Amino acid sequence: MLGKNSKLFFGISICALIAAIVLAAWGFPKIVSNQIQKKIQIENSSMMFEKWRKLPMPVSFKVYLFNVTNVDEVNRGGRPKLNQVGPYVYKQYREKTILGYGENDTVKYMLQKTYFFDAEASGTFSENDDVTVINFPYLAAILAVQRIMPSLVSVINDALQKFIPDLVDPFMRVKVKNLLFDGVFLNCSEEATDDGLGLICGKVKLDKRPTMRPAEDAPGFYFSMFSHLNRTPSGPYEMIRGREDIRELGHIVSYKEKRTLTAWGDPYCGMINGTDSSIFPPIDESNVPQRIYTFQPDICRSMYVDFVDKRSIFNMTAYYYELSNMPLASKSANPDNKCFCKENWSGNHDGCLMMGLLNLLPCQGAPAVASLPHFYLASEEILEFFASGVKPDPEKHKSFIYLEPKTGVVIKGAQRLQFNIELRNIPDAPQLLNVSTGLFPLLWIEEGAEIPATIQSELQHSHTLLGYVEAARWALLGAALLAAAAATISAMRAGPCRKNTVSFMLRPGQVANTGDINKFT
Ligand SMILES: *[C@@H]1O[C@H](CO)[C@@H](O)[C@H](O)[C@H]1NC(C)=O
Ligand SMILES: *[C@@H]1O[C@H](CO)[C@@H](O)[C@H](O)[C@H]1NC(C)=O
Ligand SMILES: *[C@@H]1O[C@H](CO)[C@@H](O)[C@H](O)[C@H]1NC(C)=O
Ligand SMILES: *[C@@H]1O[C@H](CO)[C@@H](O)[C@H](O)[C@H]1NC(C)=O
Ligand SMILES: *[C@@H]1O[C@H](CO)[C@@H](O)[C@H](O)[C@H]1NC(C)=O
Ligand SMILES: *[C@@H]1O[C@H](CO)[C@@H](O)[C@H](O)[C@H]1NC(C)=O
Ligand SMILES: *[C@@H]1O[C@H](CO)[C@@H](O)[C@H](O)[C@H]1NC(C)=O
Ligand SMILES: *[C@@H]1O[C@H](CO)[C@@H](O)[C@H](O)[C@H]1NC(C)=O
Repeated sequence: MLGKNSKLFFGISICALIAAIVLAAWGFPKIVSNQIQKKIQIENSSMMFEKWRKLPMPVSFKVYLFNVTNVDEVNRGGRPKLNQVGPYVYKQYREKTILGYGENDTVKYMLQKTYFFDAEASGTFSENDDVTVINFPYLAAILAVQRIMPSLVSVINDALQKFIPDLVDPFMRVKVKNLLFDGVFLNCSEEATDDGLGLICGKVKLDKRPTMRPAEDAPGFYFSMFSHLNRTPSGPYEMIRGREDIRELGHIVSYKEKRTLTAWGDPYCGMINGTDSSIFPPIDESNVPQRIYTFQPDICRSMYVDFVDKRSIFNMTAYYYELSNMPLASKSANPDNKCFCKENWSGNHDGCLMMGLLNLLPCQGAPAVASLPHFYLASEEILEFFASGVKPDPEKHKSFIYLEPKTGVVIKGAQRLQFNIELRNIPDAPQLLNVSTGLFPLLWIEEGAEIPATIQSELQHSHTLLGYVEAARWALLGAALLAAAAATISAMRAGPCRKNTVSFMLRPGQVANTGDINKFT
């Protein structure tokens, strides 16, 4: 009796072992990744869907301004002394409006961002603070005139003095809230009697630049850096939902109904790559992507971050990616960037700006220049223009992202970008008669997100669950191995029956003898 039972035990153990191996090696991981995929794909029943459609917590939007402290010296040709003020912190809410679902597993949506000043997070800084910054609309206008019709600089400059209030020099004394959102009034009331002013106001009306909002209360416009983000949704974006292939989750395939951007007049530089940086596909840990792309419509291009290492953050393992100097490298350092070189600049005549700069003229129609904050990762030559106040610091000025590998969730990230404009010595404009030429920073922004504690614990919890599944997988395998070992030993002890060990396994009748199994359980 013992012999027969031990044979049966042995057979069952072997079957359990095989089943355990199959489950451990293939079944469990498959089940787990299927469950995760169901949660994160963009399907209106998935866990991620609502969080994707309406971000559950605001992104922190911080603005740092460069206050000019030695205006008189700069007007006489001296080197600027700048003083960074801020952060002025805003809560940025993001909500998507779904326009429809397309072929090839896509969803089309508009993205609306809304900003609210966060007085608490801003500390001693208030929206009513007065700052002295480079006069962005003035320089944008005069640089454009010098580029297109240099002979009219003097006439247009006279008209600009009526258009822009208190235009005594190339600086603007302004309240922070007006510069960022509420707007600085630009006066067109003498448009009809002044040809130069008529030209300016006509051009501004025609260009419909997002930073120029037609005034409702008087003839003219309001200039502000970000109010258009608050007023109008961006898009439509067309994005892959990840139901067919989770590795494609979040990839933007078209923007404003176009599959490539036209700003650079080049198919390579116009490529729309990657996600909108709010979601990412899970990371395949056996084949970690070395580069992750994000599409940045504000600067009309795709950017990328490079894999650095695997790190622990908030008790979770994350993959850490950082922006390198390659996306904004000069043409000689990264030949791929040559199609971003569209305009000659007084500093450089190969159509390219210096290392670390991106010419936004083709993108925004205004001669603005983007860089990383404080010209981090840019040519050091740029820093020579300043007496003080510009000091790149990797910790404060880099852009980075921590991704949770199983879900692709952003655990923490920051995107930082600075806006600059050239201060140029132009003898025909009294305001620019004595200044030195150089690239002048206006402000820089940081969009930062960190998953809130609730979602952190949700993720950690699902990690714990994954841990249990993992533990169960190995426990099952271990138990099956132990049982198989015990069965082997007991089968060997049983002695005489050993020559049947194989044949009984092939005889279903005996395995089906449940009576015997019950004795064991
Ligand atoms: C979910 O999405 C499908 C399209 O994929 C749509 O037909 C359906 O009405 C949606 N259900 C709800 C509850 O919104
Ligand atoms: C900016 O600098 C001016 C002097 O140039 C000063 O009056 C003003 O208070 C400064 N603003 C802030 C916010 O520090
Ligand atoms: C969907 O994919 C197919 C094959 O790749 C392509 O021919 C078709 O144009 C795509 N449809 C849309 C709407 O992009
Ligand atoms: C615009 O300019 C006109 C004439 O120069 C002036 O009368 C008017 O007050 C100005 N409007 C504003 C809002 O400053
Ligand atoms: C877009 O992605 C492809 C690879 O998917 C890459 O080769 C190309 O350089 C990227 N384009 C830009 C403009 O970054
Ligand atoms: C990480 O885990 C340890 C021990 O489990 C705990 O004491 C600590 O508070 C956790 N830290 C965070 C940031 O959750
Ligand atoms: C820049 O200027 C040089 C000569 O100064 C000229 O050969 C080149 O075509 C210009 N490039 C662009 C993009 O305007
Ligand atoms: C510029 O320099 C000239 C000559 O030194 C001087 O006469 C003039 O007043 C200066 N202009 C300004 C705006 O400082």
